[in-house]
Amino acid sequence: MPDTSDITPHPTAPAPAAPPAPCPRPARRVALDPQGPVLVEGPVEIVLDDGTVARSDRFMVAVCTCRRSRTYPWCDTSHRARERKQPAPHEKRKP
Ligand code: FES
Repeated sequence: MPDTSDITPHPTAPAPAAPPAPCPRPARRVALDPQGPVLVEGPVEIVLDDGTVARSDRFMVAVCTCRRSRTYPWCDTSHRARERKQPAPHEKRKP
């Protein structure tokens, strides 16, 4: 491969783009729970399918990703699997 370190750009070539300036707003922090909601630092506004906006001013907002919540778009922990109790040995049915 030829050494190109001493090649100067053509005088009519556009100047290289400046690196992007840092965004003045702080980044919104989001945590992903693979079994449950997305946790977003609030306040949060969610645009729903029908165009309405749901807003939460909580410090940390759990956004439902499973769509089982009765308070959608907010997580109400309905995503948690309900564990069935194993029947006690004396409760087992006989065929
Ligand atoms: S993610 Fe918790 S109810 Fe949907």
